[in-house]
Amino acid sequence: MTQVKLCKTDSVPVGEPKQFNIGELEVLVINLKGEFFCLAARCTHAGAPLAEGKLMGDVLVCPWHGSNFRVMNGAVLKGPAEKPLKVYQNTVKEDYLFIEL
Ligand code: FES
Repeated sequence: MTQVKLCKTDSVPVGEPKQFNIGELEVLVINLKGEFFCLAARCTHAGAPLAEGKLMGDVLVCPWHGSNFRVMNGAVLKGPAEKPLKVYQNTVKEDYLFIEL
């Protein structure tokens, strides 16, 4: 496992999902009341950009066909998606968010 710097924590406001790229890897960062979650940025159904999705509490709603994913663990709560979103472990160090790759 390698820790990779992803972004500054203050670039992800509470409740506003943001996408960051590391090379070709697209990572969605969600700030839920100061706790950060890092997930795959594309929906597992047909690849919608989840940064354009809506956050309803701790549930992320896909902008294309409305699949619901739990932010904490990427689990599918409502289809059509069937596969969960990949979750990246993260740590905050001195105002920066790092993810494990
Ligand atoms: S692309 Fe997300 S539900 Fe279809």
